[in-house]
Amino acid sequence: MNIRIIPAPPARTLAHDTITAEQVSHLVDSFYERVRSDEQLAPLFLQHMSLDWPEHLGRMKAFWRSVLLKTGEYKGKPVPAHTKMQNVGTEDFAHWLDLFGMTVKEVFVPAAQPIVIQAAERIATSLWLAMKADPFAKPPIWPKVGRGDSK
Ligand code: HEM
Repeated sequence: MNIRIIPAPPARTLAHDTITAEQVSHLVDSFYERVRSDEQLAPLFLQHMSLDWPEHLGRMKAFWRSVLLKTGEYKGKPVPAHTKMQNVGTEDFAHWLDLFGMTVKEVFVPAAQPIVIQAAERIATSLWLAMKADPFAKPPIWPKVGRGDSK
């Protein structure tokens, strides 16, 4: 008798096992509170957002749960959402990451913080490259994440 062994699908490892959906919700609420009172980023969001804030926050929570808790629930398209924003530059991304990193440090345990920050940096780099639309563009090294000194 032939027995076929079917390998188990790879386990979907969580970004860090202390991260909860409540923390993700808190991260998104606190981060966008910061964004909304930030003189550099608030005008960009006001100009480019097609949803109202509660809908945007709901979408961002689904996005971050998908990234950090592997829920697979986010079905949006972040690249076209950002490539349409012609007036968003490298300094804006660095500042976004800085505010995000500050918020991460308030929400997650120390062991989880670099994991969340590195995920944001990787996605920021992909979005930045897509916005440049230049195959030879050299992505920035994000130096100021979470230090609160990006401007
Ligand atoms: C200066 C930097 C950034 C600005 C100004 C910005 C601004 C925005 C705006 C205005 C929207 C709403 C677009 C719309 O309603 O059509 C949006 C959506 C979104 N952003 Fe950003 N963003 C920035 C960086 C980032 C980064 C670094 C990430 C991820 C790490 C990110 C993830 C997302 C996602 C997932 C969406 C939802 C896209 C969708 O499904 O509609 N953004 N962003």
